[in-house]
Amino acid sequence: MLYIKDLPKHEGQEVELKGWNAQKRDSKGLVFMTFRDGTGFCQAVIDLNVVGETSFEAAKRLPQESSLSIKGKVIKDERQIGGYEIQVSALQVIAEAEDYPITPKEHGVDFLMDKRHLWLRSRRQWAIMRTRNEIIYSIHRFFQERGFVQMDAPIFTGNACEGTTTLFETDYYGEPAYLSQSGQLYGEAMAMAQGLIYTFGPTFRAEKSKTRRHLSEFWMIEPEMAFYDLKMDMDLIEDFVRYVVSSVLDKCKEELKVLERDTTYLEKVREPFIRMKYEDAVSVIRGEKDVNGRTSLQMLADEEAALKDEKLKLEAEIKEREEKIAGGTLKKGEINFNQNKIDKLKNEIKDLEEKLSNIPQWLNSAKNFKRGDDFGGSDETVLTKMFGQPVMVYNWPQEVKAFYMKEDETDKGYAKGVDLLAPEGYGEVVGGGERETDIERLKRKIVEHQLPMSAFEWYLDLRKFGNVPHAGFGLGLERLVAWICGLQHIRETIPFPRSYGRLLP
Ligand code: 4AD
Ligand code: MG
Repeated sequence: MLYIKDLPKHEGQEVELKGWNAQKRDSKGLVFMTFRDGTGFCQAVIDLNVVGETSFEAAKRLPQESSLSIKGKVIKDERQIGGYEIQVSALQVIAEAEDYPITPKEHGVDFLMDKRHLWLRSRRQWAIMRTRNEIIYSIHRFFQERGFVQMDAPIFTGNACEGTTTLFETDYYGEPAYLSQSGQLYGEAMAMAQGLIYTFGPTFRAEKSKTRRHLSEFWMIEPEMAFYDLKMDMDLIEDFVRYVVSSVLDKCKEELKVLERDTTYLEKVREPFIRMKYEDAVSVIRGEKDVNGRTSLQMLADEEAALKDEKLKLEAEIKEREEKIAGGTLKKGEINFNQNKIDKLKNEIKDLEEKLSNIPQWLNSAKNFKRGDDFGGSDETVLTKMFGQPVMVYNWPQEVKAFYMKEDETDKGYAKGVDLLAPEGYGEVVGGGERETDIERLKRKIVEHQLPMSAFEWYLDLRKFGNVPHAGFGLGLERLVAWICGLQHIRETIPFPRSYGRLLP
């Protein structure tokens, strides 16, 4: 079998490809088809004079997403999708498709989500999934190259790891069991056996709200390291994220182009990340402390002005195109072209309006942020918009963090936890820290958090038998995919998203 990805090696040769008709147009004896085979896209040119009447008519009639095989000569052509064109000499229809619901027109996102099983075929979704694949592969490479052992934590668990409010309860042979929120506690046990480990598995959180950052089912990567402290943990997070982002920049150039991703901020991972304590981060959020001469309140005002400006520009372009259409001199093709552009611009304006509508809320929550509280999505957004690089916030008030976090002996009341916040408003992608080793303090915290002691006996054993300092972190794969791909919503980062209100397809 030969694939589109192999075309560079077959320039000038006759090849056979099997795939689908992603899109086509025809004019006077020629059909121009965007042909896709999963590995890529290319243009197929079907000429009546070459393939004959029967095949030509079949191609001309062929509905979108019909499957077919084509034979033809490979021509390099930079201007074509994928950079190659096939001059078709013969074609055979494999299966004619029914009327395909997703057309080249703009569709609403709810409609597309309902058709997710088909939407995955579109070029943008194809590019996202390829990028996700590279991210996964590079994550494994990073840890494997450093001698970490991949181990798997169970999914049915008897205890909560990240608080009891987001637990999914299931029936386990008549007993309650919970779908795992995190593999960490098991990771700690495994690190005591192997030294350096990482888990890579599905995790579940009953998040009863629809946000652009939360899924009910997501994949988490959780390394755990014996003899690591918070500083070493932060160094590893930084090396890790730099490695993964750099590897995507290196290997997914075509995908990022399809996604029209401006990579300026991604390139910045090569510079040192910002590290700041929670208390300093709060001062920045509240606008009490500036960053390079600008406070958070000024930054938000600047952003609002820029978005309004952008909106005016788009509105002017729509008006111009509408006038062109109204002028009555355009051909049918040109009208369609302009109308499509207008639909696209209107969608862009909708996005801008959504962004604009967020700003007063961000401003409000920034000004009124209460010292001691956990960060909400908008606080993270405000903080990260102040910096070009990823920001690590560490030493959090103990009350807002999980029971297993170690208290800083030199900074009482603060836990040695760290969150990595991605720039461009993406917010928390990693949460981690040094683990509490004092068994009495752990027991007290378990009681304070109203967790059932009996479910944690095995975990406490780890402090009884060869207790050592250790640390780890959890990276949310989909949050990282969203940031790297520049997606506005987490729903496009996973093949079949599970979130509040959605179980199908
Ligand atoms: O910050 P979290 O809750 O930390 C833990 O679960 C720790 N036990 C990890 C550890 O130290 N081993 O979750 C870790 C990451 C978050 O930073 C975020 O990226 C992602 O998991 N995450 C979610 N992603 C999508 N949807 C959700 N509902 C998520 N909740 C957390
Ligand atoms: Mg967290």
